[in-house]
Amino acid sequence: MKTVSSSSTLSSSQVSLTANLDLVSEIEHLKKMKNALVLAHYYQESEIQDIADFIGDSLELARTAQKAQAKLILFAGVHFMAEGAQILNPEATVLLPDLRAGCSLSDSCPPAAFARLRAKYPDHFVVSYINCSAEIKAQSDVICTSSNALKIIQRIPENQNILFAPDRNLGAYIAQQTGRKLLLWQGTCIVHETFSERKIIDLKIQNPDALLIAHPECEPTLLSRADFIGSTSSLLQYVIDSPALKFIIATEEGILHQMRKKAPHKTLIPAPPNQSCHCNACPFMKLNTLEKVYLALRDEKPKIEISEDLRKKAFLPLQRMLEWSQ
Ligand code: 13P
Ligand code: SF4
Repeated sequence: MKTVSSSSTLSSSQVSLTANLDLVSEIEHLKKMKNALVLAHYYQESEIQDIADFIGDSLELARTAQKAQAKLILFAGVHFMAEGAQILNPEATVLLPDLRAGCSLSDSCPPAAFARLRAKYPDHFVVSYINCSAEIKAQSDVICTSSNALKIIQRIPENQNILFAPDRNLGAYIAQQTGRKLLLWQGTCIVHETFSERKIIDLKIQNPDALLIAHPECEPTLLSRADFIGSTSSLLQYVIDSPALKFIIATEEGILHQMRKKAPHKTLIPAPPNQSCHCNACPFMKLNTLEKVYLALRDEKPKIEISEDLRKKAFLPLQRMLEWSQ
């Protein structure tokens, strides 16, 4: 039974109110009582993944949020994901357990600076990675995720100039795979930039039978060594389907929970970070805890708030993405 222990991120009144509760049963009870849907990204703590109704990558989560019948959605992920759910499903109330759960890629692209760059290149078609704010989405022609980025770029006529934001690593990977020249915003993910190529080479030497699999937010030199590159869901599927038995996983460590569940006989080695730190864990994703999920469902807050004008502007490129990637 998971009970609440004293936590520095909860107020003392919240801690005393939830102390000694069986959080998993309480969450299940609240979900039923309020007919709430819990969506979780693979990078969430394993105990949050275990109480979720649906776990997926950002594209699958966006699709599920749009189709959801539930009027209350708790999104266990980061802000841009929950905001995306609200943009696609305005009828629902979308809760994010901790509103501070941001994303370094999203933070790297302030709307005013992005507007200035767009103004310098007015003939460029703007493709934004879903890891960005509603304000950036509203300035974009189409959105993509790591699982449909190649498909989206291939839909754009060959002679059309493209501005891609905010992830320069995903942008460079798309450019290399499609042969297209992209003007890149220089944002990066603090987690996927953390892996040490040298330590990974050492690991490959010690484990010659291990395949290196990586998320496209990793740096180009690491990607050039990878045996497979894909979104979180495709990395999971690759581990399940591949005849190989050992994998070095270059993405956030949360995905290992589902890999261990779905392929228990396989050996999974998390790719080591440069420093001796725990920096292959996304500090934003990890702001959500089971305690905060319980409190959010109980109190129906914190809620995602977005003006209808901005929502409508951000909806169009998201909807285009969903149509183009069917
Ligand atoms: P996915 O689209 O692969 O789930 O990735 C989201 C993300 O934030 C990766 O860091
Ligand atoms: Fe953003 Fe990186 Fe965390 Fe994904 S892992 S949410 S890209 S900071």
